[in-house]
Amino acid sequence: MSRLLCLAVALCCTLEARAGTLPSFLSACSASDPNLSRCVEKVIAVGGGKFAKGIPELGIASLDPVHLGRVVVDNPALKLTFDDTVVTGLGDFIVNSFKIDTEKGKATLDFTANVTLKANYDMDGQVLILPIRGNGQAKIKITNLNIVIKYDYKTVDGYWTVTGYEDSYNMDRAQFKFTNLFNGNKELASTINRVINDNWEPVIRDIAPVAFQTIISACVNEAKKLFAAVPADRLLLP
Ligand SMILES: *[C@@H]1O[C@H](CO)[C@@H](O)[C@H](O)[C@H]1NC(C)=O
Ligand SMILES: *[C@@H]1O[C@H](CO)[C@@H](O)[C@H](O)[C@H]1NC(C)=O
Repeated sequence: MSRLLCLAVALCCTLEARAGTLPSFLSACSASDPNLSRCVEKVIAVGGGKFAKGIPELGIASLDPVHLGRVVVDNPALKLTFDDTVVTGLGDFIVNSFKIDTEKGKATLDFTANVTLKANYDMDGQVLILPIRGNGQAKIKITNLNIVIKYDYKTVDGYWTVTGYEDSYNMDRAQFKFTNLFNGNKELASTINRVINDNWEPVIRDIAPVAFQTIISACVNEAKKLFAAVPADRLLLP
């Protein structure tokens, strides 16, 4: 009985996300739709959260959580490395807009999410001309991280290929928590934690660009895998 059930479930899941087929939670719009951008925007709004959980059958990895591994911050004043970096929250995004121009092969996705980055950190150097050093756990909460990705694509052998992209991002607020700053010196640690949180804007500019680039490229890579797995005429009906 239970073996039969397993078999049925396995079969059903395989059928649902067979390679070459659009997963059932993403419906295809029609190229002749007079408001195609609006149609795709709705598809992303409805199915994007599930997409972000990953689609193993199509080789698409999870974006929520997304594992970024080691992120090395490239800043002359500060040596900072994040290890075992995990970002959560991307899946609960809201779509602000999606625009596509099928003739030019250009599209723009604009979305917002509240995300949290957690990692083991190791840092030594200066932030806001104040000395800072330590190693321990880092948690960075970003409120309303707004990401805009503009990409170019073309159809090669029946599949969409992303030929390039530009991105930009913005946020309403960043909150930092670094444990074990200054080898656990509580007074120094609480002072610097307060200073960096009061001045989150220059601090995030100093330490985070590479983390955001890594997050955005993870999003683009998983979308590319979808385009590589499902033929263009199934992503966008003629
Ligand atoms: C498409 O839909 C959007 C959002 O509903 C609207 O703002 C826009 O005017 C529509 N465009 C056309 C060409 O109908
Ligand atoms: C992020 O969180 C804030 C407040 O906690 C909320 O107002 C906002 O709607 C959230 N944004 C998203 C994209 O969920």
